[in-house]
Amino acid sequence: MQSLKEQLQAYEQDINAFSPADAAELENYRIKYLGTKGLVKQVFGEMKNVPADQKKEAGQLLNTFKQLAEAKYEAFKHLQEQSGKKSNDIDITLPGTALPSGTRHPLRVVENEIVSIFEKIGFSVATGPEIEDDWHNFTSLNMPEHHPARDMQDTFYVSQNPDWVLRTHTSSVQARIMEQGNLPVRVICPGRVYRNETISARAHCFFHQCEGLYIDKNVSFADLKQTLYYFVTEMFGADTKLRFRPSYFPFTEPSAEMDISCTVCGGSGCSLCKHTGWVEILGCGMVHPNMLRNFDIDPEVYTGFAFGMGVERITQIKYQVNDLRLYSQNDIRFLKQFQSA
Ligand code: PHE
Repeated sequence: MQSLKEQLQAYEQDINAFSPADAAELENYRIKYLGTKGLVKQVFGEMKNVPADQKKEAGQLLNTFKQLAEAKYEAFKHLQEQSGKKSNDIDITLPGTALPSGTRHPLRVVENEIVSIFEKIGFSVATGPEIEDDWHNFTSLNMPEHHPARDMQDTFYVSQNPDWVLRTHTSSVQARIMEQGNLPVRVICPGRVYRNETISARAHCFFHQCEGLYIDKNVSFADLKQTLYYFVTEMFGADTKLRFRPSYFPFTEPSAEMDISCTVCGGSGCSLCKHTGWVEILGCGMVHPNMLRNFDIDPEVYTGFAFGMGVERITQIKYQVNDLRLYSQNDIRFLKQFQSA
């Protein structure tokens, strides 16, 4: 009995230290301990030599030994199956799961297009803050305090500071560019602007503009017309006609609004052009001498033109979007219809 106990302890030590490097070693282990001529069978064969009064104890020892030998085998077999699965089950030649890709927002698509048209003729992009001070949004643009033209744009004021507003147009960026004093200037200013309007299909409390500014010696209204003509034909096609109507902006003189022939009906009349054949797309004019003087630019030497358009308006015409609210409702079905540019 004593020798059986010692024998089992030796085997158990052996088993505890066992760690197969591969399937072949594990198979050797199985044959050695659990095979038909294996050690487990052999030691059970010893039972017949154990005296009757010790059989119970010996039986327990043998069972523990057998369970250990089997458990060790099962554990390693399981491990090998797992690792075998990993390397065999992954087919690295299969295509990956494609993630759905998003699309650009329609306003960004159109803004990019506007910007790249002007970039081709030498304009560079300028941006500025959306919270603006009174000077850059109004006063420097020839709209001093109490000027009636301030009422043309219903303004959001910032409660922390009476001098601050949410910019009502990106002309504020033009002011900042003129302030830098590097002439000549040829910039396009895209960005979000805010006006205190009740939200409806035709008005929103924020929208987007692209405004342009060109200041140099000898810039004339003819340059303005030619520049905008180039823009319109690039944006809406070579057949598009344009016309200028006299208008008023405090920061330009003379001022005009520009219409293009309706791109939907071609001029015969539809709901987009309200049956006039024309759709208004932007305001423009020659930079007012007062504005040049506000930035120490001599109006006797330099002249310039400016124009400003709403990106929503251009998008509406290009894609026939009839409700401004669609742009900010985040409806994927609407948003994914626009191709990235
Ligand atoms: N700032 C004007 C607006 O927001 C547009 C404009 C820009 C008009 C430049 C003339 C010249 O309505």
